[in-house]
Amino acid sequence: MSPSSDAASRSLRLVVSLLLAAGFAQAADSPPTEARNDPDTRAAVDPNLTASAVWAARCASCHGQSGRADTPSAGLYKVDDLSTQEWNANHSDAEIIGDIRLGIAKTKMRSFGAKLTEKQLAEVVKLIRSFSR
Ligand code: HEC
Repeated sequence: MSPSSDAASRSLRLVVSLLLAAGFAQAADSPPTEARNDPDTRAAVDPNLTASAVWAARCASCHGQSGRADTPSAGLYKVDDLSTQEWNANHSDAEIIGDIRLGIAKTKMRSFGAKLTEKQLAEVVKLIRSFSR
């Protein structure tokens, strides 16, 4: 390799690494993709909370106070309206409880199986059914 092409390849490498560094710096600065008012999905849930208190504290920011997916996060995460007749007809209690327990892969729906008691899980399902209109 001639000295001049060696220098050229060195400056090319310099430019590439500067671009990479700039890209990483920008990624660190870019705004978070999660809505800021989402509850901390990892935090524990008080086992004494009623279903409606659990819903208000941990579910409503994404699903809406009445399950209607009428929040900014619902739009952002493509959350279904849980209050329609159609949704209710198409989801068994077992499916609903399973989704809450395990979460839904590749979505913002996290697993709550280790956070809610069996009683809370069962009551949250009843609460979701009560949103049906
Ligand atoms: C950070 C946002 C977020 C939070 C908080 C959240 N969910 Fe979800 N949930 C989602 C998303 C996204 C989906 C997947 C899209 C869908 O199915 O609606 C989902 C799906 C579901 C489903 C299945 C819906 C379906 O159509 O199959 C149920 C049931 C559910 N969530 C219940 C809950 C309950 C109960 C809580 C609180 C304990 C909760 N979610 C908290 C975002 C959230």
